[in-house]
Amino acid sequence: MRFYDHTMKVINSIDQLRECLAEHRKEGRTIGFVPTMGALHEGHASLVRRSLEENDVTVVSIFLNPTQFNDPKDLERYPRTLEADCRLLEECRADIAFAPTVKEVYPEPDTRQFSYPPTDSVMEGAMRPGHFNGVCQIVSKLFTYVEPDRVYLGEKDYQQIAVIRRMVADLGFKVEIVPCPVVRQSDGLAMSSRNTLLTDEERATAANIYRIMKESCTLGLTVQQTHDYVVEQINAIPGLEVQYFSIVDGDTLADVASWDDAPSVVGCITVFCGQKPIRLIDHIRYK
Ligand code: PAF
Repeated sequence: MRFYDHTMKVINSIDQLRECLAEHRKEGRTIGFVPTMGALHEGHASLVRRSLEENDVTVVSIFLNPTQFNDPKDLERYPRTLEADCRLLEECRADIAFAPTVKEVYPEPDTRQFSYPPTDSVMEGAMRPGHFNGVCQIVSKLFTYVEPDRVYLGEKDYQQIAVIRRMVADLGFKVEIVPCPVVRQSDGLAMSSRNTLLTDEERATAANIYRIMKESCTLGLTVQQTHDYVVEQINAIPGLEVQYFSIVDGDTLADVASWDDAPSVVGCITVFCGQKPIRLIDHIRYK
């Protein structure tokens, strides 16, 4: 049962967060955690609602983590919407929004190195060197502040979940990882904070990414043929350019050559969309 007895608290300091959560823990309440970088949308709201259903207290962190951006321009243009984010979390009836400053989280530069190949070295790991190291730095810090019973992570960032699973096993965090399905617009475009950077026309074009991946599931092709089909069809659409499309073991993220190579097989894609261009990621489960 959830803890309804107050309006949402917005907390900026780690000490205050710890104090507040210690009270809840003393009362035997379970803690669900939704880490975010803000610019919240319906996809995040679905994670928050799931946490509210399954825990007594739900903490949502809003922290645009600089260490996971290998491209300073990408960090600079990332949408920042703290007020609207807090309104959405109030509406969802989250219990605590934790929105620390960079100085609070990184009083000293974080020099820790994490390495969980192949999960963090392929796909996004290869395209954005240091990205998953930054994700592990911040998520491990947040886990030590919040000590959640469960963490809710969107499958939109499929690879991120695989990396965080390895980190949790490695560092022995006692947290249950709850992967949550991608929330899509009615045309199939995966909800993403980056979508706000697209024009209406670009958004409509971007919907082809999921449409084509879905279509590829129905054609009875080999792994290689499926790969080539998806890449060729998407690249044929003006305004879209595939950066990579990898068909991988859904657990280890190692490449597969045949559908029988792994119990679960997933296609992970990154596409450049539009003029700026904006990098969009998505995935499809083949089995
Ligand atoms: O998925 C995200 O929004 C971020 O990578 C996370 C998990 C909040 C860490 O900054």
